[in-house]
Amino acid sequence: MPTRYLVTGGAGFIGSALVRHLLGQESGNVTVVDNLYSGKLANIEAVKDRIEFHKTDIRDYEALRPLMDGVEVVFHLAAIPSVPRSISEPVPSHDVNCNGTFNVYRAAHEAQVRRVVYAASSSAYGDTDVLPKTESMMPRPKSPYALQKLMGEYYGSVFHSCFGLEAVALRFFNVFGPRQDPGSPYSGVLSLFMKAALEGQTPTIFGDGEQSRDFTYVEDVAALVYKAAHAPGVSGRVYNAGNGGRYTLNFVWDQVQKLAGVTLPANYGPPRAGDVRDSQADTAAAQRDLNHSPQFSIEEGLRRTFDWYRGA
Ligand code: UD1
Repeated sequence: MPTRYLVTGGAGFIGSALVRHLLGQESGNVTVVDNLYSGKLANIEAVKDRIEFHKTDIRDYEALRPLMDGVEVVFHLAAIPSVPRSISEPVPSHDVNCNGTFNVYRAAHEAQVRRVVYAASSSAYGDTDVLPKTESMMPRPKSPYALQKLMGEYYGSVFHSCFGLEAVALRFFNVFGPRQDPGSPYSGVLSLFMKAALEGQTPTIFGDGEQSRDFTYVEDVAALVYKAAHAPGVSGRVYNAGNGGRYTLNFVWDQVQKLAGVTLPANYGPPRAGDVRDSQADTAAAQRDLNHSPQFSIEEGLRRTFDWYRGA
């Protein structure tokens, strides 16, 4: 019997990369649940005949619950991402990321799903004295988004210990790659930088640009998420999903300008509320328990991503 997978947020930028990865691995059976709030049918257009799609909102428990029947693994990626959006629009952010996430665990438990793999966030660490950030550090969320994502981890661990549902949380570190939507001020910074460079516009950098991130290529994240569905002995645990590198915004804007063959000095604005200063993943635990090593350097990831935006 092929494995039945369900991906919440499967029409999103990361979710659709995971769907393609799943379809490339085995003759699994993939259901996508997405309310198309930020996900797009265009992201799954090429595979639409090989998946089952439901335009369903994870806040709607009654609609969500039957979709889990017969599913073995749920990948829960549906969310309203963005640190600044969670500050300017805290209610929908809380509702989807907290109440929606509770619905996903509850429905998975009711339907006797074997395992839920949850897209957690590196923002849960907040500012730490030490880099890289290891899973044993005390979380110090600095924004509603970071707190909401942390709550989802804790709920997974409690569904594991109280209800026997297998749950694994992966803290994503600044994922980038093709299909990331640059269409909103809340979009991931690299998508905004790519768009700015291609349109000959100057981007805005919040702060001095010396804050750093562990930018992680989307295909590496998809590969890790898949491994987390099948690794034995990891239920109830949290793992970093990062590349292990650390690059400043000034550095990556420089790289994007080089790829585009432009010179456009950025505008510098005030630092953003809730922003973490530095972010870098310790990847040892994911390597040890999930047998994962990132395959894409930042240069390779940026090149592939830029090529995609240029063609899109
Ligand atoms: C955060 C989380 C990440 C999460 C993501 C979801 C951290 C360390 N990471 O990413 O785990 O998945 O939210 O959205 O908290 N910036 C600019 N100019 C812009 C846009 C952004 O300078 O036009 C800056 C931001 O101030 C920030 C950096 O770029 O310093 C990255 O921002 P963004 O791409 O939004 O991601 P994070 O907030 O780091």
